[in-house]
Amino acid sequence: MAHREKLPATACVAKLEGNGRLNSLSAVRNAKPIVELVREIAIKSGNALEIASGTGQHVVKLAAALPLLNWQPSDVDETRIKSIRCWSNDHHLTNLKPPCLLDATKEGWAAEHHGQDLILLVNLLHLISIEETKILVNEMSKALVPQGLSIIYGPFMRNDKLISKSDMEFHHSLIDTDPDLGYKNDVDMLNIFNEAGLVHLRTEKMPANNLAFITQKP
Ligand SMILES: C[S@@+](CC[C@H](N)C(=O)[O-])C[C@H]1O[C@@H](n2cnc3c(N)ncnc32)[C@H](O)[C@@H]1O
Repeated sequence: MAHREKLPATACVAKLEGNGRLNSLSAVRNAKPIVELVREIAIKSGNALEIASGTGQHVVKLAAALPLLNWQPSDVDETRIKSIRCWSNDHHLTNLKPPCLLDATKEGWAAEHHGQDLILLVNLLHLISIEETKILVNEMSKALVPQGLSIIYGPFMRNDKLISKSDMEFHHSLIDTDPDLGYKNDVDMLNIFNEAGLVHLRTEKMPANNLAFITQKP
């Protein structure tokens, strides 16, 4: 399943600034804690794949902060690919590859992206279904090298509960658009990791009620 055209306006907010560059306030806001988390847990060298890179504002900061990791940004959407190129061109980072098109919910993508020491995914799972989430995590597992790490960041239910008014409003705006979308449950994520052969190392509480699941391929 490719990405969905129909999403609430709040799902992927980014301002077009000209030449295809997109600027997302939320990407700017959560960049620092994400970079700090990756810097703290990630292996310091090797190949890193970012799925659903969006505007590209995270990956340029990550590549600058972790110069020994070779970063591959990706997204399913051509307009985002264009924006990632704009941000990348500003930074001239030798460890940042050109962005590639990748539909992470399509079975089989790992074959083209194998050999990853780290895979990062920020803010996508609430915009896809649970079946697509299972495919994505399975493919992530296949794309990782032994001992490779994955970080999945975003908004999640805790034990089937939404924990704030803004989380309730956002989740309901998603399921009103498409009942297959919406926040995934933290406990279900642990089962999905297990079924995909990934070992759950820990769950970090992140700002704005987000969680980051850190898993490892044995
Ligand atoms: C909410 S934005 C998050 C972007 C970025 N990770 C961030 O946190 O700023 C969701 C992104 O997922 C991308 N996306 C949607 N469906 C996808 C899919 N099936 N595979 C890969 N990327 C997808 C969208 O194009 C968009 O860039």
